[in-house]
Amino acid sequence: MTTKTESTGWRQLLSDHVDARMVGIDTDEAVADRNAIVQLDPDHPGFRDQEYRRRRNQIAQIAMNYHPGDPIPDAPYTTEEHQVWSAIWQALKPAHRRHACAEYNACLKKLDFAPDRIPQLREVNEKVRAISGFRLEPVAGLVQPRVFLENLADEVFLCTQYIRHHSTPLYTPEPDVVHEIVGHGVTLASERLAELNRLFGQAVKRTTSAEALEKLSRVYWFTIEFGVLREDGRVKAYGTGLLSSAGELAEMRTAELRPFNLPAASRQDYDPTHFQPVLFCADSFQGMYRTLREYLSKW
Ligand SMILES: [Fe+2]
Repeated sequence: MTTKTESTGWRQLLSDHVDARMVGIDTDEAVADRNAIVQLDPDHPGFRDQEYRRRRNQIAQIAMNYHPGDPIPDAPYTTEEHQVWSAIWQALKPAHRRHACAEYNACLKKLDFAPDRIPQLREVNEKVRAISGFRLEPVAGLVQPRVFLENLADEVFLCTQYIRHHSTPLYTPEPDVVHEIVGHGVTLASERLAELNRLFGQAVKRTTSAEALEKLSRVYWFTIEFGVLREDGRVKAYGTGLLSSAGELAEMRTAELRPFNLPAASRQDYDPTHFQPVLFCADSFQGMYRTLREYLSKW
């Protein structure tokens, strides 16, 4: 599904973890040719850039060779790609000041990213692990929602390592390292948000029916990915999908805000290809934390 924007022309928003995230790996081809493992759609911004595709394959290969417990190899980012990070950072800095909740901004300070260089997962892990026990581990391709969510129980966040194409710094059709680090990496440096992620994983492990898994996935979507809350009388974001995109943060004010009712969120359908028209807003960070923790613990 596509929507029109001024900056990118036709724009496709990313789907995410709980939507059986496609990173574009073709397993048949991976077997046949290990140098061509990433498949990009013809309308992907990097489709015609052979150098970008080569690097995407190389980065996917890092994940395929990775064994849990090994040190995570650094991704070979180019100067152009570090500049993409800088451009995103410049857009996000004022957006975070304005729209991010205090817990997020405090974590951002702890991680202290350089404004002009994409941090490596290895570096992010050093800090995040010391705070919450969580670590980011690279993944090359399609991860089923159950696999993704269950890993959270073991304090493992499966994430992509590539960055979007340099021609569209403020747009990506798939979750990239910016969403993973600026969104999830930062929130996992919060003990309370990390605990909620872990409880999601444990709840999924206790879930057998597809219907129940879908309900939990929706709650994950409307909290960890697109959660908002009130702070000092204003609506602030704690959801990673919002916090990793200046565009999403700006659009947040147009959403219909509903009370923080998790059974209602578990029944609420969403379209990952659009800015979210409905958000569930908690009265405070502590209120969100307590209510969600209780909901997941009793699941
Ligand atoms: Fe996400």
